[in-house]
Amino acid sequence: MTQAFTVEGGQMYAEDVPLTQIARQFGTPTYVYSKAALHGAYRSFADACAGRDVLICYALKANSNLAVIDQFAQLGAGFDIVSGGELARVIAAGGDPKKVLFSGVGKKVDEIRYALAQEVLCFNLESAQELDRVNEVALSMGKRARVSFRVNPEVDAQTHPYISTGLKENKFGVEFGSALALYRKAATLPGVEVTGMDCHIGSQLVDAAPLLEAMDKLLQLVDQLAAEGIHLHHLDLGGGVGIRYTDETPIDPAFYLGEVFKRLGARKLTIMFEFGRALVGNAGVLLAEVQYLKHTAQADGRNFCVIDAAMNDLIRPALYQSYHRIEPVMPRAGAGQVYDVVGPVCESGDFLGKARRLNVAQGDLLAVMSAGAYGMVQSSNYNTRTRAAEVLVDGLNVHQVRRRETVEELFALESIVP
Ligand code: LLP
Repeated sequence: MTQAFTVEGGQMYAEDVPLTQIARQFGTPTYVYSKAALHGAYRSFADACAGRDVLICYALKANSNLAVIDQFAQLGAGFDIVSGGELARVIAAGGDPKKVLFSGVGKKVDEIRYALAQEVLCFNLESAQELDRVNEVALSMGKRARVSFRVNPEVDAQTHPYISTGLKENKFGVEFGSALALYRKAATLPGVEVTGMDCHIGSQLVDAAPLLEAMDKLLQLVDQLAAEGIHLHHLDLGGGVGIRYTDETPIDPAFYLGEVFKRLGARKLTIMFEFGRALVGNAGVLLAEVQYLKHTAQADGRNFCVIDAAMNDLIRPALYQSYHRIEPVMPRAGAGQVYDVVGPVCESGDFLGKARRLNVAQGDLLAVMSAGAYGMVQSSNYNTRTRAAEVLVDGLNVHQVRRRETVEELFALESIVP
């Protein structure tokens, strides 16, 4: 993984640009992405698939800024989407809709029609009713939809329950035991063409074993279907590969893909992935400024470091108790104190880190690390806070890829009753 954010000569850089310069130019809070890190992450998977029949799709729910989509389009990636809106983003960024997988449990008729008009590569179906709907919509347009079923392999991804998706109790996918019957039915419908099988068992996995176990289970079905004359064209193993937030040892792409190809054997299937976090997570930081330090006098009391980024900018700590490293942009000598790093939002759940040892003063800049995935995309305007700016660094150049919102824009769609 490309080291995009490094401390040199007493300050942190994004590639070759000091973060202090970015804060001066664009203000805070600002999401800062590294082009080299995006490319490096993609290449670590692409290199491990060299010479193989593979389509790496980028799950753009992780970070759907047009500039990020554009980078992956240039690298030759496909895309995994979960809404008509995401398809519009792929197209707006110059991505190829014919390399798009359409996932998600709740596709509406309009979205299906739009995706068919754009000739997406495949609909990842998640229920029997969705099969019927896609078939009907396709027939009404005189088209045939390429489809795959998202099979729930009933494998425990051993990750946070909110981001675990491959168990019976989850809303996702079709039951393993009903998959064959659904494929047999789909094969008879004139509005669909059965082309693949997919799964996605969860996110931020740090062990490849559950992913490979899921693959083994899907291959059983693939082989059974082939024996019945239903030949699939691709197997989509979803996303889920985790990143290092603190001290995790992430799955090694070369190891994982090596194991995948070993299992695939001589089968003639295109392998597809839907990676989100692994492609963008460590390519971004959230840059913020210290507003106030509140020290308590009590021995058992807490100290608070109030910064200008909050749960509305990065909700992961509040929502999943997830850990993001928080680093000073210009580290000071000395041990400092232990702080809860919090934002200005009026909720006790508004924290970005708890019990962090920091040596900071009012006005210092902090970088909330590993914020490239599920950061800006999950932001909101809670407390009428304008959302952060986003910049993409490329060597010595900084490109603003989303400007900060204005307060007027936040209520521009509202009106007072006459
Ligand atoms: N494919 C499907 C069908 C998915 O549902 C997801 C993520 C992905 C691919 C990409 O997974 P990844 O490679 O990023 O693990 N907001 C949460 C993560 C939610 C993931 C939802 N699905 C977080 O901040 O941790």
